[in-house]
Amino acid sequence: MSGAQAKAAVIAGAIAVVAEINPLVVKKRHEQGWVDEVYTELSELERRLMHAVCNREPVSLAYQGNVVDLWEYLAAHKLQIELGSDQTSLHNPWSGGYYPAGLTFEESNSLMVSDPDKFREAVRASLRRQVEAINLMSAGGMYFWDYGNAFLLEASRAGADVMKADGTFIYPSYVQDIMGPLFFDYGFGPFRWVCTSGRPEDLDVSDKIAAGILEEIAATSPKETEMQMRDNIHWIREAGKNKLVVGSQARILYADCEGRIKIAAAFNEAIRSGQISAPIVLGRDHHDVSGTDSPYRETSNIYDGSGFTADMAIQNVIGDGFRGATWVSIHNGGGVGWGEVINGGFGMLLDGTEDAGRRLRMMLHWDVNNGIARRAWARNEEAVFAIKRAMQSEPGLMVTLPNQVEDSLICNLF
Ligand SMILES: NC(=O)c1ccc[n+]([C@@H]2O[C@H](COP(=O)([O-])OP(=O)(O)OC[C@H]3O[C@@H](n4cnc5c(N)ncnc54)[C@H](O)[C@@H]3O)[C@@H](O)[C@H]2O)c1
Repeated sequence: MSGAQAKAAVIAGAIAVVAEINPLVVKKRHEQGWVDEVYTELSELERRLMHAVCNREPVSLAYQGNVVDLWEYLAAHKLQIELGSDQTSLHNPWSGGYYPAGLTFEESNSLMVSDPDKFREAVRASLRRQVEAINLMSAGGMYFWDYGNAFLLEASRAGADVMKADGTFIYPSYVQDIMGPLFFDYGFGPFRWVCTSGRPEDLDVSDKIAAGILEEIAATSPKETEMQMRDNIHWIREAGKNKLVVGSQARILYADCEGRIKIAAAFNEAIRSGQISAPIVLGRDHHDVSGTDSPYRETSNIYDGSGFTADMAIQNVIGDGFRGATWVSIHNGGGVGWGEVINGGFGMLLDGTEDAGRRLRMMLHWDVNNGIARRAWARNEEAVFAIKRAMQSEPGLMVTLPNQVEDSLICNLF
Protein backbone atom coordinates (compact mmCIF):
# COMPACT_ATOMS: atom_id res chain seq x y z
CA MET A 1 0.00 0.00 0.00
CA SER A 2 1.59 3.20 -1.10
CA GLY A 3 -1.37 5.27 0.07
CA ALA A 4 -1.88 7.14 -3.19
CA GLN A 5 -4.50 4.70 -4.42
CA ALA A 6 -6.60 4.86 -1.26
CA LYS A 7 -6.51 8.64 -1.36
CA ALA A 8 -7.23 8.83 -5.08
CA ALA A 9 -10.24 6.56 -4.69
CA VAL A 10 -11.77 8.85 -2.08
CA ILE A 11 -11.06 11.95 -4.20
CA ALA A 12 -12.84 10.22 -7.10
CA GLY A 13 -15.84 9.45 -4.86
CA ALA A 14 -15.16 5.70 -4.55
CA ILE A 15 -14.80 3.26 -1.66
CA ALA A 16 -11.31 1.73 -1.48
CA VAL A 17 -10.23 -1.44 0.31
CA VAL A 18 -6.48 -2.04 0.41
CA ALA A 19 -4.44 -4.74 2.10
CA GLU A 20 -1.01 -4.26 3.63
CA ILE A 21 0.88 -6.92 5.52
CA ASN A 22 3.49 -4.73 7.18
CA PRO A 23 2.02 -3.19 10.38
CA LEU A 24 4.53 -0.33 10.33
CA VAL A 25 3.48 0.68 6.82
CA VAL A 26 -0.20 0.56 7.82
CA LYS A 27 0.48 2.73 10.87
CA LYS A 28 2.39 5.31 8.84
CA ARG A 29 -0.22 5.56 6.06
CA HIS A 30 -2.98 5.86 8.63
CA GLU A 31 -1.19 8.48 10.71
CA GLN A 32 -0.37 10.54 7.62
CA GLY A 33 -3.99 10.42 6.50
CA TRP A 34 -3.51 8.39 3.30
CA VAL A 35 -6.00 5.80 4.49
CA ASP A 36 -9.04 6.50 6.67
CA GLU A 37 -9.60 3.35 8.76
CA VAL A 38 -7.72 0.16 9.63
CA TYR A 39 -9.14 -3.34 10.22
CA THR A 40 -7.48 -6.56 11.30
CA GLU A 41 -10.63 -8.70 11.16
CA LEU A 42 -12.12 -9.44 7.74
CA SER A 43 -15.67 -9.79 9.07
CA GLU A 44 -15.47 -6.32 10.65
CA LEU A 45 -14.05 -4.93 7.43
CA GLU A 46 -16.98 -6.47 5.52
CA ARG A 47 -19.52 -4.84 7.85
CA ARG A 48 -17.86 -1.42 7.44
CA LEU A 49 -17.63 -1.87 3.69
CA MET A 50 -21.32 -2.72 3.36
CA HIS A 51 -22.23 0.27 5.51
CA ALA A 52 -20.22 2.54 3.20
CA VAL A 53 -21.76 0.95 0.10
CA CYS A 54 -25.32 1.40 1.41
CA ASN A 55 -24.62 5.02 2.32
CA ARG A 56 -22.60 5.75 -0.85
CA GLU A 57 -19.83 7.05 1.41
CA PRO A 58 -16.39 7.60 -0.17
CA VAL A 59 -13.91 6.13 2.30
CA SER A 60 -10.66 4.14 2.31
CA LEU A 61 -10.39 1.01 4.45
CA ALA A 62 -7.13 -0.81 5.10
CA TYR A 63 -6.96 -4.50 5.90
CA GLN A 64 -3.83 -5.22 7.91
CA GLY A 65 -3.01 -8.68 6.64
CA ASN A 66 -2.28 -10.67 3.52
CA VAL A 67 -3.97 -9.53 0.32
CA VAL A 68 -4.59 -13.15 -0.67
CA ASP A 69 -6.72 -13.65 2.45
CA LEU A 70 -8.65 -10.52 1.52
CA TRP A 71 -9.28 -11.68 -2.07
CA GLU A 72 -10.34 -15.12 -0.90
CA TYR A 73 -12.72 -13.62 1.65
CA LEU A 74 -14.28 -11.31 -0.94
CA ALA A 75 -14.70 -14.20 -3.39
CA ALA A 76 -16.09 -16.64 -0.78
CA HIS A 77 -18.61 -14.07 0.45
CA LYS A 78 -19.49 -13.02 -3.11
CA LEU A 79 -18.97 -9.35 -2.31
CA GLN A 80 -19.48 -7.15 -5.34
CA ILE A 81 -16.34 -5.16 -6.17
CA GLU A 82 -16.31 -3.05 -9.35
CA LEU A 83 -12.60 -2.47 -9.89
CA GLY A 84 -9.66 -4.56 -8.72
CA SER A 85 -5.88 -4.54 -9.09
CA ASP A 86 -2.73 -5.60 -7.23
CA GLN A 87 0.07 -3.34 -6.10
CA THR A 88 2.50 -5.58 -4.30
CA SER A 89 6.10 -5.00 -5.45
CA LEU A 90 6.23 -7.99 -7.77
CA HIS A 91 9.03 -6.46 -9.81
CA ASN A 92 11.06 -7.77 -6.82
CA PRO A 93 9.28 -11.02 -5.89
CA TRP A 94 11.96 -12.91 -3.96
CA SER A 95 13.36 -10.25 -1.61
CA GLY A 96 10.34 -8.80 0.12
CA GLY A 97 8.31 -7.34 -2.74
CA TYR A 98 5.63 -10.00 -2.23
CA TYR A 99 4.64 -11.75 1.01
CA PRO A 100 3.11 -15.17 0.45
CA ALA A 101 -0.18 -16.23 2.04
CA GLY A 102 0.04 -18.71 4.90
CA LEU A 103 3.12 -17.11 6.47
CA THR A 104 3.27 -14.19 8.87
CA PHE A 105 5.27 -11.13 7.91
CA GLU A 106 8.08 -12.20 10.27
CA GLU A 107 8.06 -15.82 9.01
CA SER A 108 8.42 -14.62 5.43
CA ASN A 109 11.27 -12.27 6.32
CA SER A 110 13.21 -15.08 7.90
CA LEU A 111 12.36 -17.75 5.28
CA MET A 112 13.50 -15.58 2.34
CA VAL A 113 16.96 -15.57 3.95
CA SER A 114 17.14 -19.06 5.52
CA ASP A 115 15.60 -21.04 2.65
CA PRO A 116 15.20 -18.94 -0.52
CA ASP A 117 13.98 -21.90 -2.61
CA LYS A 118 11.21 -22.71 -0.18
CA PHE A 119 10.30 -19.01 -0.04
CA ARG A 120 10.11 -18.86 -3.85
CA GLU A 121 7.78 -21.85 -3.90
CA ALA A 122 5.60 -20.19 -1.24
CA VAL A 123 5.39 -17.03 -3.41
CA ARG A 124 4.40 -19.06 -6.47
CA ALA A 125 1.74 -21.02 -4.58
CA SER A 126 0.38 -17.79 -3.11
CA LEU A 127 0.15 -16.18 -6.55
CA ARG A 128 -1.78 -19.18 -7.85
CA ARG A 129 -4.25 -18.84 -4.94
CA GLN A 130 -4.52 -15.10 -5.46
CA VAL A 131 -5.30 -15.48 -9.16
CA GLU A 132 -7.92 -18.14 -8.46
CA ALA A 133 -9.79 -15.73 -6.17
CA ILE A 134 -9.37 -12.83 -8.60
CA ASN A 135 -10.69 -14.98 -11.44
CA LEU A 136 -13.79 -15.82 -9.39
CA MET A 137 -14.36 -12.13 -8.66
CA SER A 138 -13.89 -11.26 -12.33
CA ALA A 139 -16.37 -13.93 -13.37
CA GLY A 140 -18.79 -12.13 -11.05
CA GLY A 141 -18.31 -8.84 -12.91
CA MET A 142 -15.21 -7.23 -11.39
CA TYR A 143 -12.92 -5.42 -13.81
CA PHE A 144 -9.32 -6.42 -13.04
CA TRP A 145 -6.18 -4.96 -14.54
CA ASP A 146 -2.42 -5.23 -14.08
CA TYR A 147 -1.07 -2.17 -12.28
CA GLY A 148 2.33 -2.23 -13.93
CA ASN A 149 3.94 -4.12 -11.05
CA ALA A 150 4.67 -7.31 -13.01
CA PHE A 151 1.71 -9.10 -11.36
CA LEU A 152 0.59 -10.93 -14.51
CA LEU A 153 4.15 -11.68 -15.51
CA GLU A 154 5.05 -13.27 -12.16
CA ALA A 155 1.66 -14.98 -11.85
CA SER A 156 2.18 -16.54 -15.29
CA ARG A 157 5.69 -17.65 -14.32
CA ALA A 158 4.15 -19.24 -11.21
CA GLY A 159 1.75 -21.23 -13.40
CA ALA A 160 -1.36 -19.29 -12.35
CA ASP A 161 -4.36 -19.25 -14.65
CA VAL A 162 -3.74 -15.90 -16.36
CA MET A 163 -2.95 -16.89 -19.95
CA LYS A 164 -5.12 -17.11 -23.04
CA ALA A 165 -4.51 -19.83 -25.59
CA ASP A 166 -2.73 -17.33 -27.88
CA GLY A 167 -0.07 -16.63 -25.21
CA THR A 168 -1.42 -13.23 -24.13
CA PHE A 169 -2.77 -12.40 -20.67
CA ILE A 170 -6.46 -12.69 -19.85
CA TYR A 171 -6.37 -9.27 -18.15
CA PRO A 172 -5.18 -6.02 -19.70
CA SER A 173 -2.34 -3.94 -18.44
CA TYR A 174 -3.70 -0.57 -17.32
CA VAL A 175 -1.46 1.11 -19.93
CA GLN A 176 -2.98 -0.86 -22.80
CA ASP A 177 -6.49 -0.20 -21.62
CA ILE A 178 -6.47 3.18 -19.97
CA MET A 179 -3.27 5.17 -19.64
CA GLY A 180 -1.98 4.60 -23.18
CA PRO A 181 -5.00 5.48 -25.30
CA LEU A 182 -6.56 8.04 -22.94
CA PHE A 183 -3.44 9.83 -21.70
CA PHE A 184 0.03 9.04 -23.06
CA ASP A 185 -1.03 9.03 -26.72
CA TYR A 186 -2.49 12.51 -26.31
CA GLY A 187 0.59 13.73 -24.44
CA PHE A 188 -0.94 13.72 -20.93
CA GLY A 189 1.53 12.66 -18.29
CA PRO A 190 2.62 13.27 -14.70
CA PHE A 191 4.10 16.73 -14.80
CA ARG A 192 5.70 17.62 -11.45
CA TRP A 193 7.00 20.64 -9.66
CA VAL A 194 8.74 21.37 -6.39
CA CYS A 195 8.71 24.78 -4.68
CA THR A 196 12.29 25.25 -3.53
CA SER A 197 11.24 27.78 -0.90
CA GLY A 198 9.64 24.89 1.01
CA ARG A 199 6.70 27.24 1.72
CA PRO A 200 3.15 25.85 1.55
CA GLU A 201 1.97 29.32 0.45
CA ASP A 202 4.06 29.00 -2.74
CA LEU A 203 2.56 25.60 -3.48
CA ASP A 204 -0.90 27.03 -2.96
CA VAL A 205 -0.24 29.85 -5.44
CA SER A 206 1.21 27.35 -7.94
CA ASP A 207 -1.89 25.13 -7.61
CA LYS A 208 -4.14 28.08 -8.35
CA ILE A 209 -2.04 29.12 -11.33
CA ALA A 210 -2.09 25.57 -12.74
CA ALA A 211 -5.86 25.21 -12.25
CA GLY A 212 -6.49 28.57 -13.95
CA ILE A 213 -4.34 27.62 -16.96
CA LEU A 214 -6.07 24.23 -17.34
CA GLU A 215 -9.49 25.90 -17.18
CA GLU A 216 -8.46 28.32 -19.92
CA ILE A 217 -7.22 25.46 -22.12
CA ALA A 218 -10.30 23.32 -21.36
CA ALA A 219 -12.58 26.05 -22.71
CA THR A 220 -11.41 25.20 -26.23
CA SER A 221 -10.32 21.56 -25.83
CA PRO A 222 -11.37 19.11 -28.53
CA LYS A 223 -13.95 16.52 -27.41
CA GLU A 224 -11.18 13.86 -27.44
CA THR A 225 -9.51 15.42 -24.40
CA GLU A 226 -12.44 17.03 -22.57
CA MET A 227 -12.69 14.25 -19.98
CA GLN A 228 -8.96 14.33 -19.22
CA MET A 229 -9.05 18.10 -18.73
CA ARG A 230 -12.12 17.91 -16.48
CA ASP A 231 -10.54 15.20 -14.28
CA ASN A 232 -7.25 17.04 -13.95
CA ILE A 233 -8.92 20.34 -13.08
CA HIS A 234 -10.91 18.50 -10.40
CA TRP A 235 -7.67 16.93 -9.13
CA ILE A 236 -5.67 20.14 -8.88
CA ARG A 237 -8.58 22.10 -7.36
CA GLU A 238 -8.91 19.43 -4.63
CA ALA A 239 -5.20 18.70 -4.15
CA GLY A 240 -4.55 21.28 -1.40
CA LYS A 241 -7.61 20.18 0.61
CA ASN A 242 -6.50 16.57 0.51
CA LYS A 243 -3.22 17.21 2.33
CA LEU A 244 -1.07 15.21 -0.04
CA VAL A 245 2.25 16.76 0.92
CA VAL A 246 4.48 14.79 3.27
CA GLY A 247 7.92 16.32 2.67
CA SER A 248 8.88 18.80 -0.07
CA GLN A 249 6.25 21.27 -1.17
CA ALA A 250 5.64 19.44 -4.45
CA ARG A 251 2.76 18.62 -6.74
CA ILE A 252 2.08 16.21 -9.54
CA LEU A 253 -0.52 16.95 -12.19
CA TYR A 254 -1.38 15.18 -15.43
CA ALA A 255 -1.10 17.69 -18.24
CA ASP A 256 -0.51 17.60 -21.99
CA CYS A 257 2.16 19.49 -23.90
CA GLU A 258 0.17 22.72 -24.11
CA GLY A 259 -0.75 22.47 -20.42
CA ARG A 260 2.80 21.76 -19.26
CA ILE A 261 4.33 24.62 -21.26
CA LYS A 262 1.68 27.17 -20.28
CA ILE A 263 1.78 26.19 -16.59
CA ALA A 264 5.59 26.29 -16.53
CA ALA A 265 5.65 29.69 -18.29
CA ALA A 266 3.11 31.05 -15.80
CA PHE A 267 5.23 29.76 -12.87
CA ASN A 268 8.31 31.40 -14.33
CA GLU A 269 6.42 34.67 -14.65
CA ALA A 270 5.09 34.35 -11.06
CA ILE A 271 8.67 33.82 -9.81
CA ARG A 272 9.85 36.85 -11.78
CA SER A 273 7.08 39.05 -10.34
CA GLY A 274 7.60 37.76 -6.78
CA GLN A 275 4.15 36.16 -6.56
CA ILE A 276 6.05 32.91 -5.93
CA SER A 277 8.93 33.57 -3.56
CA ALA A 278 11.70 31.28 -4.91
CA PRO A 279 12.57 29.10 -7.94
CA ILE A 280 10.52 26.05 -8.88
CA VAL A 281 12.04 22.82 -10.15
CA LEU A 282 10.08 20.99 -12.83
CA GLY A 283 10.29 17.27 -13.42
CA ARG A 284 8.06 14.35 -14.20
CA ASP A 285 7.65 10.69 -13.38
CA HIS A 286 9.31 8.18 -15.70
CA HIS A 287 5.81 6.76 -16.14
CA ASP A 288 5.06 9.15 -18.99
CA VAL A 289 4.50 9.69 -22.71
CA SER A 290 8.08 9.80 -23.89
CA GLY A 291 10.69 9.02 -21.29
CA THR A 292 10.34 5.27 -20.95
CA ASP A 293 10.67 2.20 -23.16
CA SER A 294 8.96 -0.58 -21.22
CA PRO A 295 7.13 -3.27 -23.18
CA TYR A 296 5.42 -4.54 -20.00
CA ARG A 297 4.22 -1.11 -19.02
CA GLU A 298 4.71 2.34 -20.59
CA THR A 299 5.08 1.13 -24.18
CA SER A 300 2.75 -1.86 -23.82
CA ASN A 301 0.14 -0.13 -26.00
CA ILE A 302 2.57 0.07 -28.93
CA TYR A 303 1.56 -2.90 -31.03
CA ASP A 304 3.71 -2.65 -34.16
CA GLY A 305 6.59 -4.55 -32.56
CA SER A 306 8.66 -1.46 -31.84
CA GLY A 307 7.55 -1.42 -28.20
CA PHE A 308 10.45 -3.82 -27.64
CA THR A 309 13.08 -1.29 -28.72
CA ALA A 310 14.82 1.11 -26.37
CA ASP A 311 15.18 4.18 -28.57
CA MET A 312 12.61 6.57 -27.21
CA ALA A 313 14.05 7.08 -23.73
CA ILE A 314 17.50 7.79 -25.22
CA GLN A 315 16.19 10.27 -27.78
CA ASN A 316 14.17 11.89 -25.05
CA VAL A 317 17.09 12.43 -22.74
CA ILE A 318 19.42 13.67 -25.49
CA GLY A 319 16.75 16.02 -26.86
CA ASP A 320 15.93 17.34 -23.38
CA GLY A 321 19.64 17.84 -22.67
CA PHE A 322 20.24 19.90 -25.82
CA ARG A 323 17.07 21.95 -25.38
CA GLY A 324 17.85 23.26 -21.94
CA ALA A 325 17.14 20.73 -19.18
CA THR A 326 19.07 21.57 -16.02
CA TRP A 327 19.93 17.90 -15.61
CA VAL A 328 18.96 14.63 -17.29
CA SER A 329 19.17 11.00 -16.25
CA ILE A 330 19.04 7.70 -18.03
CA HIS A 331 18.43 4.67 -15.89
CA ASN A 332 17.18 1.12 -15.85
CA GLY A 333 14.56 -0.92 -14.11
CA GLY A 334 11.95 1.73 -13.17
CA GLY A 335 8.88 -0.05 -11.85
CA VAL A 336 9.04 -3.34 -13.69
CA GLY A 337 12.54 -4.49 -12.79
CA TRP A 338 16.14 -4.47 -13.96
CA GLY A 339 16.68 -5.36 -17.60
CA GLU A 340 13.00 -4.93 -18.52
CA VAL A 341 12.94 -1.16 -19.06
CA ILE A 342 14.95 1.98 -19.93
CA ASN A 343 13.92 5.25 -18.30
CA GLY A 344 14.88 8.80 -19.14
CA GLY A 345 14.20 11.77 -16.90
CA PHE A 346 14.92 15.47 -16.52
CA GLY A 347 14.90 18.29 -14.05
CA MET A 348 14.54 21.97 -14.96
CA LEU A 349 15.06 24.95 -12.74
CA LEU A 350 12.71 27.90 -13.28
CA ASP A 351 14.22 31.03 -11.77
CA GLY A 352 12.01 33.67 -13.34
CA THR A 353 14.52 34.69 -16.01
CA GLU A 354 13.88 35.17 -19.72
CA ASP A 355 16.34 32.39 -20.42
CA ALA A 356 14.37 29.93 -18.28
CA GLY A 357 11.25 30.96 -20.24
CA ARG A 358 13.01 30.15 -23.53
CA ARG A 359 14.37 26.83 -22.30
CA LEU A 360 11.13 25.59 -20.81
CA ARG A 361 9.29 26.10 -24.09
CA MET A 362 11.95 24.34 -26.15
CA MET A 363 12.50 21.45 -23.77
CA LEU A 364 8.95 20.63 -22.73
CA HIS A 365 7.87 20.72 -26.38
CA TRP A 366 10.42 18.03 -27.17
CA ASP A 367 9.88 16.11 -23.95
CA VAL A 368 6.23 15.46 -24.82
CA ASN A 369 6.10 15.49 -28.62
CA ASN A 370 9.02 13.11 -29.03
CA GLY A 371 6.85 10.42 -27.46
CA ILE A 372 3.68 11.39 -29.27
CA ALA A 373 5.55 11.16 -32.61
CA ARG A 374 6.89 7.75 -31.65
CA ARG A 375 3.39 6.58 -30.69
CA ALA A 376 1.94 8.02 -33.91
CA TRP A 377 4.47 6.07 -36.00
CA ALA A 378 3.11 2.95 -34.30
CA ARG A 379 -0.24 4.07 -35.77
CA ASN A 380 -1.96 4.76 -32.46
CA GLU A 381 -4.95 6.81 -33.63
CA GLU A 382 -4.97 9.13 -30.60
CA ALA A 383 -1.30 9.94 -31.08
CA VAL A 384 -1.81 10.64 -34.81
CA PHE A 385 -4.56 13.08 -33.78
CA ALA A 386 -2.30 14.70 -31.16
CA ILE A 387 0.76 15.07 -33.37
CA LYS A 388 -1.32 16.66 -36.16
CA ARG A 389 -2.59 19.21 -33.62
CA ALA A 390 0.97 19.80 -32.40
CA MET A 391 2.09 20.53 -35.98
CA GLN A 392 -0.81 22.95 -36.45
CA SER A 393 0.07 24.89 -33.31
CA GLU A 394 3.82 24.87 -34.01
CA PRO A 395 4.52 25.25 -37.75
CA GLY A 396 8.23 24.58 -37.12
CA LEU A 397 7.41 21.00 -36.15
CA MET A 398 7.40 18.48 -38.99
CA VAL A 399 6.68 14.86 -38.12
CA THR A 400 6.25 12.15 -40.73
CA LEU A 401 2.78 10.66 -40.45
CA PRO A 402 2.24 6.92 -40.79
CA ASN A 403 0.36 5.49 -43.75
CA GLN A 404 -2.50 3.15 -42.93
CA VAL A 405 -2.52 0.05 -45.09
CA GLU A 406 -5.04 -2.80 -45.13
CA ASP A 407 -3.39 -5.96 -43.76
CA SER A 408 -4.60 -7.89 -46.82
CA LEU A 409 -2.60 -5.59 -49.16
CA ILE A 410 0.60 -6.29 -47.21
CA CYS A 411 -0.10 -10.02 -47.05
CA ASN A 412 -0.63 -10.15 -50.83
CA LEU A 413 2.94 -8.99 -51.33
CA PHE A 414 4.31 -12.19 -49.80
N1 LIG B 1 1.15 2.03 -12.22
C1 LIG B 1 1.81 2.94 -11.59
O1 LIG B 1 1.66 4.13 -11.81
C2 LIG B 1 2.72 2.52 -10.53
C3 LIG B 1 3.17 3.53 -9.70
C4 LIG B 1 3.98 3.18 -8.68
C5 LIG B 1 4.34 1.87 -8.50
N2 LIG B 1 3.91 0.90 -9.33
C6 LIG B 1 4.34 -0.50 -9.11
O2 LIG B 1 3.54 -1.01 -8.04
C7 LIG B 1 4.35 -1.81 -7.19
C8 LIG B 1 4.27 -1.30 -5.78
O3 LIG B 1 4.78 0.02 -5.66
P1 LIG B 1 4.84 0.77 -4.27
O4 LIG B 1 5.58 2.02 -4.47
O5 LIG B 1 3.47 0.81 -3.67
O6 LIG B 1 5.79 -0.28 -3.49
P2 LIG B 1 5.98 -0.62 -1.96
O7 LIG B 1 7.01 -1.70 -1.93
O8 LIG B 1 6.14 0.63 -1.18
O9 LIG B 1 4.56 -1.22 -1.52
C9 LIG B 1 4.19 -2.55 -1.75
C10 LIG B 1 3.59 -3.03 -0.43
O10 LIG B 1 2.99 -4.31 -0.65
C11 LIG B 1 3.08 -4.98 0.60
N3 LIG B 1 2.83 -6.39 0.32
C12 LIG B 1 3.60 -7.25 -0.37
N4 LIG B 1 3.03 -8.45 -0.46
C13 LIG B 1 1.84 -8.35 0.19
C14 LIG B 1 0.79 -9.25 0.40
N5 LIG B 1 0.81 -10.50 -0.07
N6 LIG B 1 -0.28 -8.82 1.10
C15 LIG B 1 -0.34 -7.55 1.59
N7 LIG B 1 0.63 -6.64 1.40
C16 LIG B 1 1.71 -7.04 0.69
C17 LIG B 1 4.47 -4.67 1.12
O11 LIG B 1 4.55 -4.85 2.50
C18 LIG B 1 4.64 -3.22 0.68
O12 LIG B 1 4.35 -2.30 1.72
C19 LIG B 1 5.76 -1.76 -7.76
O13 LIG B 1 6.02 -2.93 -8.51
C20 LIG B 1 5.75 -0.55 -8.62
O14 LIG B 1 6.64 -0.61 -9.68
C21 LIG B 1 3.09 1.20 -10.35
